[in-house]
Amino acid sequence: MEITTDRLRLRALDSADTAALVTYLNDWEVARWLARPPYPYSPQDAAAFILFMQQRHEADHPLLFALAELGSGRLIGTIGIEPGGAGGGELGYWVGRPHWGQGYGREAARAAIAQAAAAGLAGLTAFAHPENARSARLLEGCGFRADGTELRDGRHGPMPMSRFLLRPL
Ligand SMILES: CC(C)(COP(=O)(O)OP(=O)(O)OC[C@H]1O[C@@H](n2cnc3c(N)ncnc32)[C@H](O)[C@@H]1OP(=O)(O)O)[C@@H](O)C(=O)NCCC(=O)NCCS
Repeated sequence: MEITTDRLRLRALDSADTAALVTYLNDWEVARWLARPPYPYSPQDAAAFILFMQQRHEADHPLLFALAELGSGRLIGTIGIEPGGAGGGELGYWVGRPHWGQGYGREAARAAIAQAAAAGLAGLTAFAHPENARSARLLEGCGFRADGTELRDGRHGPMPMSRFLLRPL
């Protein structure tokens, strides 16, 4: 499935996205806020991630997307809603640093939230590092409210993360 916004296409990941994934996720200013992607990030890491995302996207969980520029089709980030948390879904995302500050993150998050609502989810949670002001601002701009902290697995072990809630969608 694909979702089109004013400037973005939310689509399945493709092997042609490998180089962009490797470039953007090897940027510590992106990776430092993300618990899951390895760092440094290799083409093999990208290939495994693309396969995982494609399988999940095609099968039971069409809420994991590449973020591509509408015109060029080039990957600028990813966004996903994983099952779990209050209301049934947990939102996660990143945007490559050259594309920050242009509202892409918020545009993508709004589209993903609408898709989650259409899929029948009652609410969403999201977690951000307490110092990740950009992500907190993005979430609050999409209607999430801060809801305390929770110990989560981080890159270097358990870490208190700020929890955000959006309910109802
Ligand atoms: C968080 C992230 C996705 C934001 O993407 P983006 O496309 O730049 O987001 P937007 O342009 O929609 O802007 C988000 C908000 O951050 C604000 N912002 C920008 N720089 C900021 C800063 N240094 N401090 C606080 N807020 C800031 C913007 O003003 C905007 O808020 P506004 O629309 O109310 O003005 C991107 O920075 C990123 O990928 N970071 C690394 C990975 C990450 O943090 N992922 C989320 C993990 S929880």
